[in-house]
Parts: sequence; structure tokens; C-alpha cells
Amino acid sequence: MSLLQRVGWRRPPASVEDVRAIARRRLPRPVFDFIDGGAEDEVTLADNRAGFERFRFQPQALTDVSVRSQRVTVLGLELELPVLLAPAGLARLAHPGGEVAAARAAAAAGTVFTLSTAASASIEEVAAASKGPLWLQLYVWSDRGATRDLVARADAAGYHSLCFTIDVPMSGQRERDLRNGLTIPPRPAGSTLVEYARHPAWVRHALLGSPITFANFLGATPGQGDGAVALGKYVNSQLNPSMSWDDLQWLRETWQRPLLVKGVMTAGDARRAVDLGADALIVSNHGGRQLDGLPATVDVLAEIVDAVGDRAEVLLDSGVRRGADVVKALALGARAVLVGRPYLYGLAMSGEAGALQVLRMLAAEIDRVQALLGVPDVRSLHPGFIRT
Ligand code: FNR
Repeated sequence: MSLLQRVGWRRPPASVEDVRAIARRRLPRPVFDFIDGGAEDEVTLADNRAGFERFRFQPQALTDVSVRSQRVTVLGLELELPVLLAPAGLARLAHPGGEVAAARAAAAAGTVFTLSTAASASIEEVAAASKGPLWLQLYVWSDRGATRDLVARADAAGYHSLCFTIDVPMSGQRERDLRNGLTIPPRPAGSTLVEYARHPAWVRHALLGSPITFANFLGATPGQGDGAVALGKYVNSQLNPSMSWDDLQWLRETWQRPLLVKGVMTAGDARRAVDLGADALIVSNHGGRQLDGLPATVDVLAEIVDAVGDRAEVLLDSGVRRGADVVKALALGARAVLVGRPYLYGLAMSGEAGALQVLRMLAAEIDRVQALLGVPDVRSLHPGFIRT
């Protein structure tokens, strides 16, 4: 480490990858790995990046790009940029501001924040703290009554859409967490003790501050308290391996506002979801955290867009790290994309300001790619901008 680094001088981050490097330094290794890691051999995690890198642009030279717009409309919402925030559980592990900070960053950037069912801030807390549009991600639990409660709370709190995640009949195996002996809440012990000791600021807020727990389920385990251990067991017990298309049909009948289905990876599933009334699909492999061996989302995007036509909007997540990735996804037919880890890295770097900085960085990159590619308005992107 250089003397300048020792006294705390750092180069400002120029890319999401730089922000990731800062998050890596800020967080104890087990916590960074929980955010950063993927399932098993992380083949899908790596392919999500490689997928974007395989596509090449085909520019339209000498197009007047003096006025540029990256505004898009998603499910009737006018967004300032085609990047939304994906649901991620327990965001307070990254920063004490957690989901509230992320939702405020999204609102400041003019985009959507999606709250995870497994969040460390509640549906109501986030709604009260943010003026921006909110979606709620949910699973259809084993206990439909509990799911119905979540839907009713989202409705009462004014959430714009529900996002039904279909790729978690059970949890994927993230082996970094196993090797690190990660528990929720994290418990410094054994070989990781040193890692936590090296991050006293994180320990102070995360372990000694107000407890990080599954805030949407306070009171769900009477007699056992609201700690992350008891509520974590409850959340796991509610993951539902018998989840089926009937659950989507039930959800469609239960929720009157826009409904998204997240975790679609094939044209067949896309058609089925739309037939059952989904308003939008999110092509997603859960950022490589569930089934390892799935293809990169950008590689299946075009066939899903083809299958759906104009019957539903198609969004994409998993592996988006550059404005160029966003532009490629839009050219291949996505209406917008979502990011997960990038804003968590931003939170870890500097809370709400860090998450906002990541969104602004992506917006600036999109803008530059538009100029260089010859695309004044992202809504006019089409597959002709991609070399096949
Ligand atoms: C997630 N993701 C996720 N998805 C979901 O539907 N419900 C959830 O509770 C979570 N939790 C979660 C936690 C963490 C730490 C991460 C990194 C991700 C998946 C998320 O919504 C999204 O699909 C991916 O993060 C997208 O990939 P990138 O942008 O992280 O590469």
C-alpha cells in the first residue's frame, strides 16, 4: 500500500468496477462476498459479464446527436434514465441507510426502487421516506395468507407495481458464504474474526447499532423475538418449492395494479407469464445467484422479446455494469434494465450519495455511448445498432 493510500487518499471512482473495489475495502470480506458472490462455480455470474462483452456496436455516423434523451416509460412511469434498482435483501449490511438510502437515491435520479420482501427496511418505512416510484418484490409464500398481507400492505402504502420472483423455489448455493461461515446476522467468529476487526466502523453500525433484520416480518415469530435468526428461519420456511403458474394466476387476481414477473429465462415461460396477465417480464438469472449454468441474460433477451411482441414490456437484469451494457440491452429489445450489486457497492462506498453516484455514472456513460453510436433518443435503439 502506498503512503498516499495509507493516509486515506484515494482516486475518485471512474466506473462501477472502481466503486466495487472501494466496497471491497469498506466491507468485511464475508459481507462483501455475500453481495458480490454467485452460486456454485459462478459460471453464470461470469457469463453475465462476458455476454455483454461479446456484443459489438454498429454505429450510425454523422447523425445529429446534439440533443440527447435517455428517458423511457416503464409501465406508465416516466423515468429519467433506463436503469432501475433491483430488489436486494438486507441492504443495511452494505450501509446503515440500507433500502431507505437506496430508494432516495433512485428518487433523486428519477427512477424506480424495488424493495425486496427480505429487506431490512419495511414496506411502510421505505414508502414514508421516498417520494419516488416504488415496486415491491415478492415470492408467493407457502402461507398464502402471509403473501396476501404483503400485497395488502403494498397496496395501502401506494406501491406502483408488484414484482413476482419466480426463480427461488429454494435458495441457490453460494459457496463463498459457506466458506466464510457467513451467518445472518453476521457473527464475527473463528477465522473471520480478523476480517471484522479490520472494519471497526462497519462493526459499529451493523453489529452494535439497531439490529439488522427482516423488517417486513416483525412479530411473525411470537415468543422468539424479531432477531434476524428467528425471522430468517421464518423467511426460509416460507420459500415455496411447490410454487407454480397457479400462484401467478392467483396473484394476478389479487393485485389490480401492474404486475411484473422476474426470473424469466425462456421464450416459453415468457409466453406463459404473459398469457396469465403479466404486464412486464424481467429477464433475469438473479445475478447468477440461483441456478448456476444458466446463460447470460443478454444472450436470451432477443428470443424473449420476439416471443412476447408488444403484449408486455421486457426488462433485463444481471451483469449490467456499464452504460454500454444498458444500450446493448435496449438495442436488443429491452425497455429498461435493473441493477443490483452496482447500487449495493455504491451504498457501501457512501450510502445514499454513493448509490446516486453509481446511477449518475451509468447515466453519463449511456449519454456518451448514445453520442458516439449516433442515437439521439434511446427509444429509437434497434438491433441494427448491434453487429451480429
Ligand atoms: C439479490 N437479488 C434478489 N432478487 C429478488 O428477487 N429478491 C431478493 O430478495 C434478492 N436479494 C438479493 C440480494 C443480493 C445481495 C443481491 C446481489 C441480489 C437479485 C437482484 O434482484 C437482481 O436480480 C440481481 O442482483 C441482478 O444482477 P446484478 O445487477 O447484481 O449483476
